[in-house]
Amino acid sequence: MAKRPSVSMKDVAALAQVSVGTISNVLNKPELVAPETRQRVLDAIDKLGWVRNESARQLRAGRSASIGLVVMDIANPFFSDMARGVEEVAAGAGCSVLLSDSAHDAGRERAALDLFQQLRVRGVILAPIAHSPDGELARRLDMPVVLADRYAAYQDVCTVSVDDFVGGQLAMAHLLERGHRRLAVVGGSADIPQVRERRDGAARAVLLGSPDATLLTISTARLDIAAGRTAAEAILAMPDEERPTGVFALNDLVAIGLLQGLVRRKVAVPEEISIVGYDDIEFAEAAAVPLSSVAQPRVDLGRRAATLLLGEIEARESGEPHQHVQERFTPTLQVRSSSLRELVVLTP
Ligand code: RIB
Repeated sequence: MAKRPSVSMKDVAALAQVSVGTISNVLNKPELVAPETRQRVLDAIDKLGWVRNESARQLRAGRSASIGLVVMDIANPFFSDMARGVEEVAAGAGCSVLLSDSAHDAGRERAALDLFQQLRVRGVILAPIAHSPDGELARRLDMPVVLADRYAAYQDVCTVSVDDFVGGQLAMAHLLERGHRRLAVVGGSADIPQVRERRDGAARAVLLGSPDATLLTISTARLDIAAGRTAAEAILAMPDEERPTGVFALNDLVAIGLLQGLVRRKVAVPEEISIVGYDDIEFAEAAAVPLSSVAQPRVDLGRRAATLLLGEIEARESGEPHQHVQERFTPTLQVRSSSLRELVVLTP
């Protein structure tokens, strides 16, 4: 089918026998246009099927009415839940959200930020990948940037995150309280700051809780369901007497894959191996064995990131000073069946 010739604002003006300025007034300040002229313009728009190029209009105005959001893994419900919070606050301020997935890749993250710069978005919320030199990205862009899901001690960018060290402690202390002494932390790699912090918190809990316990660390290339299945295979390949009985998976996708890998091999969860995940996404509770998980306030993280960004945008655009903040949420432990084996009374 032949492509319809694109219709311009000039075509509408010619058909309605008005100026292009009158078309713009009908769309932006209808109160300035006589009713019969306004109707004639609307009839011409309908007749020609014209659609305003909103992004071109916003760029002519100097800045788009959009903010950019770059997340590390859109397939992870943690980030889609966070994006929902961003969208809610942005919409309340009349801003749309342009979403990009860096998929753990530095090149994709940089390309997304460059695109948002070209589109002249008003600011960017970035959930950085592992190797992202946090502040450099913020400094490189000549627009407000808020780092989400990342804590940074320096003062030249706003950040919102959860205290992952406390989160790791909560998960491991719970397994110790349930009597586990052969423990493991599975998923991700130490080059992801969130993973490093969770591992450090878990190690501190073991040190304080039971110095005679063993703690195995199983790293995986990614933090997804396949990584959890890989971790399950590694655990099942171990001799029974060395196999960990309490496992902290560094996010719920890894926990779900771990659970699947164990259940497929008829391992009883939590009786033989107990599991605690992280994020408390919706699928944690819905898992075949409902997962205990360290809950992150995902939607609130998004809301706060958007609120901080809009505040900085407002300050920059009105020439007011802006004080950067590092906001940290405290995680909580949601206990479910996957870690509630009968308490093991340890004989002295
Ligand atoms: O994407 C990896 C993990 O980092 C997510 O599951 C979430 O926990 C984030 O902090």
